[in-house]
Amino acid sequence: MTSAQVHEATQKDQLGIYEVNAKTTSILRRTYRPTLAALQSKERLMPQQTRLVALLKDRVVGTVEYRFVDDRLHFLGLGVHPEHQCREVARHLIKALEAIGQEAGARCLSAYTVRQTGNVKIFEQLGFTAVSEEQDHTLVSDIHPTLTDVYLEKPIPLDDSRPM
Ligand SMILES: CC(C)(COP(=O)(O)OP(=O)(O)OC[C@H]1O[C@@H](n2cnc3c(N)ncnc32)[C@H](O)[C@@H]1OP(=O)(O)O)[C@@H](O)C(=O)NCCC(=O)NCCS
Repeated sequence: MTSAQVHEATQKDQLGIYEVNAKTTSILRRTYRPTLAALQSKERLMPQQTRLVALLKDRVVGTVEYRFVDDRLHFLGLGVHPEHQCREVARHLIKALEAIGQEAGARCLSAYTVRQTGNVKIFEQLGFTAVSEEQDHTLVSDIHPTLTDVYLEKPIPLDDSRPM
């Protein structure tokens, strides 16, 4: 496992976050792009999200945003710099989210991904299960006739050390 350090993003991390987001967004744009409706959707513009960053040698190599929704810790925008992918940076970020969720007594982690990106397989490797899916009419693609949103969950084990 890499020794990525994960912490809540600070002002100092902003440039690194921008770079990771630019790189990962360009990867996703090979598969789909959002319409204006998607960009305006509440899901994507929801305020009060907290951002984590993963650092390797003081460089931001991964990031994710999350918020609590009912009994879930819901995250979005998980991205790892292409030069550092497949080195368990996402796994570190997911572990950090699990610890935050466990501390708060959340039932599970949850996220959406677009099936045609191939990410469902990666999320399954990370312990997630696809719970449901539906066609997304707010995204468009030059290569796929339709795009599918997959909703995934990963249960968070109860923290035995928490007072009852
Ligand atoms: C999806 C993404 C975040 C994964 O990050 P990562 O740091 O490379 O993932 P990890 O190294 O922690 O790998 C996690 C698991 O997925 C598997 N995996 C990662 N990339 C994979 C790939 N391209 N193909 C197949 N499996 C892959 C790994 O093998 C690992 O499983 P294992 O430990 O059982 O071997 C990264 O590829 C990315 O930023 N992609 C572009 C943006 C994106 O699609 N974000 C998700 C939006 S929902």
